[in-house]
Amino acid sequence: MINHPHPPDTPPQRLTASLFGPDFLWGTVLAAAQNEGAWNSYGKGASIWDNFARRQGKIKGADKPTVACDFYHRYKDDLLLAKALGFKVFRFSISWPRILPEGTGRVNKEGIAFYHRLIDECLKLGLVPYVTLYHWDLPAALEKEGGWTSHLMIRWFSRYVTLCAEEYGGKVKDWIVLNEPFGFTTLGYMLGRHAPGKTGLSNWLPAIHNAALAQAEGGRILRKIVAGAHIGTSFSCSEVMPHTDSPEDQQAAKRLDILLNRLFIEPTLGNGFPREDFRLLEKLELHNKSWKYTERMQFDFDFIGIQNYFPVVVRYNPLIPIVQASEVKARNRKVPCTAMGWEINADSFYRILKRFSLYEGVKEIIVTEGGAAFKDERVNGAVSDPQRIDYFRDYLLAMLRARDEGANITGYFAWTLMDNFEWAEGYKARFGLIYVDFKTQLRTIKDSGYWFRDFLSGH
Ligand code: BGC
Repeated sequence: MINHPHPPDTPPQRLTASLFGPDFLWGTVLAAAQNEGAWNSYGKGASIWDNFARRQGKIKGADKPTVACDFYHRYKDDLLLAKALGFKVFRFSISWPRILPEGTGRVNKEGIAFYHRLIDECLKLGLVPYVTLYHWDLPAALEKEGGWTSHLMIRWFSRYVTLCAEEYGGKVKDWIVLNEPFGFTTLGYMLGRHAPGKTGLSNWLPAIHNAALAQAEGGRILRKIVAGAHIGTSFSCSEVMPHTDSPEDQQAAKRLDILLNRLFIEPTLGNGFPREDFRLLEKLELHNKSWKYTERMQFDFDFIGIQNYFPVVVRYNPLIPIVQASEVKARNRKVPCTAMGWEINADSFYRILKRFSLYEGVKEIIVTEGGAAFKDERVNGAVSDPQRIDYFRDYLLAMLRARDEGANITGYFAWTLMDNFEWAEGYKARFGLIYVDFKTQLRTIKDSGYWFRDFLSGH
């Protein structure tokens, strides 16, 4: 069991970044809507998250991303912190409505200039910028026209990607087209728990279809415009295990596995949606009228971003529409879990890495996010978070094992540099290596941040 990687009577293995070799990419990540703030300043248009947060009962504590970590104004100091912890890569996202306030059409020069400054500062500090094009903050103006459910999305997204590639492609070579398409289509257009809060198959299926197309199209645009680009896209994934050995539970696990782990990577690799294995997905045929879509959903990504936060255990439940499966929560299974109630299971992370690395067509894997939320507190000027240190140690060991066994994993980016706006969970869920006091914007490096610094420097 990797959670206890060394028997009590042997000395713990000294884990340092050097075990991964000199070229391994160590990074940290944040996202525009979760960190920037300045939500309606400097010409920025509203995003679907700005609007969603204003709706009652949508976000815990009625929190809003209006100021967040004020990264827009504090980015220089925050980059210095990332640098001081020893990271080599800085992954961030561009806010689409900051540079195109109406989503398409008019360009906001101030927004364009902000990302130039941010990129220049990264380069000055020797941090390699990894730019995510879409981390969930769709311009609200486009949502009015249907957002991800609209067939016009491909046109809107192409315009946005072209602008980013032309503006920043001379300095940024590493790109991530979408962040977790399964997450934003399902939470936002099926379950209504995330912005824009839509529900039902009539929203979800077209959103899936359009996201799969936009993702590949984004890759093609970057390839055409950015010389020497290194292009990826990031998928969420979760090992799905049946609660019992019963055929019903096993079938339920299989259905959920198709959604959580196969729905987006398979069209990306050119295999189309995994619809033979899940009758419901045949409905995607409605939007997928001819072979040409399967072809257009494929793109030869240089790397695949993997983001694995928890495994899932499911049992058959005929009352749940579509998947007929319900989750057996980690807390009820009495397994170690994070403050989000997500199971901590580094072995499962190991298996996920092995599985994705075995897909034909996956050339390189970067763990583009990994991390955990715990109930952190600042006491006497310090934040002690031993659980997060254990978490990273176990997960990094699991990754090392997968890599040593041949999985082509070339980087790991810690989620996240600092506590930030955790979507529907608001500001209470803290994932950062740095603690943020949201009243004063004071940053305090957590013990896990110092642990990472020592791990990276080999001390
Ligand atoms: C998302 C992040 C989010 C993190 C923790 C990932 O799914 O990309 O934006 O904060 O998980 O929930």
